[in-house]
Amino acid sequence: MSANNKSLLDVATQKLTESQVWRSIFRHGYPDTPLNQSLVMMGNVFLHLHPVKVSRKAMKTTYTWCLGGISFFLFLLLTITGVFLMFYYVPDTNQAYQNINQLSTADSFGHLVRNMHRWAAHLMVVSVTLHMIRVFYHGAYKPPREFNWVVGVLLFFVTLFLSFTGYLLPWDQIAIWAITVGTNLAPYTPLLGNSVYKVLVAGGAVSQATLVRFYVGHVILLPLAAAILMAVHFWRIRKDGGEAGPPPPSRRELEAQSGEQRSLTSSTR
Ligand code: HEM
Repeated sequence: MSANNKSLLDVATQKLTESQVWRSIFRHGYPDTPLNQSLVMMGNVFLHLHPVKVSRKAMKTTYTWCLGGISFFLFLLLTITGVFLMFYYVPDTNQAYQNINQLSTADSFGHLVRNMHRWAAHLMVVSVTLHMIRVFYHGAYKPPREFNWVVGVLLFFVTLFLSFTGYLLPWDQIAIWAITVGTNLAPYTPLLGNSVYKVLVAGGAVSQATLVRFYVGHVILLPLAAAILMAVHFWRIRKDGGEAGPPPPSRRELEAQSGEQRSLTSSTR
């Protein structure tokens, strides 16, 4: 009975895997040889985002702590919740504060989505910083990953600027004065300081013009820059052979290992 069932199952499996539909989706056999493994990785739209071979040790969650992935997830969450907030928010000094008040107290799910946006923003600054520290700790900024490190540094600044520009938008007292203090630091920078202040604030003090500048930067320019930089960042990770992984053992470690093995075999004789 079970033999019959098995053969039926075998026949059904064979029919399925040999059908045109199956073969049009899965073009290569079961990935149990190095060649098939490479072909499967390269022929699949999702898997081809990874390099063909990756270091097994670098795949462990405790190696990367998924900090880059968490940063990317938070960016997606911020984009989705940010679009929701845009339906309710007008960057006008006479309306912005009321809009946010109304959103937090009267609109359906407004308070929840606003807080999701706020918390995700704080967490992203934390996760990107920790990711940068993790990469530095593993020495993954060294060649061939030095270009991706520079892309990462740009992503770090874009993340900080997203946080800075978003802070002004509720147009409450803490926002206005925090941005006044923050932007007033700019003129102390040698050479470009005054010009940077004028570009940021659009006048002599934080005003309606500043709010529009920060709004456009926050919802268009900086997210676009982040998305482009992330695309380059992920492409580079693939091209650099995936995660750096721990370095191969040094000659001294290899010699010590073989010495230990020799003494083990002589003691068992
Ligand atoms: C929005 C910010 C960022 C996102 C979404 C992001 C995303 C990622 C992801 C998903 C990975 C692979 C998995 C992992 O290592 O966790 C990665 C790797 C890497 N990231 Fe980032 N990253 C960001 C910012 C940064 C920053 C600030 C730096 C450094 C200045 C950086 C430098 C690198 C490098 C060098 C690698 C390769 C690491 C290795 O080979 O071990 N990234 N990033």
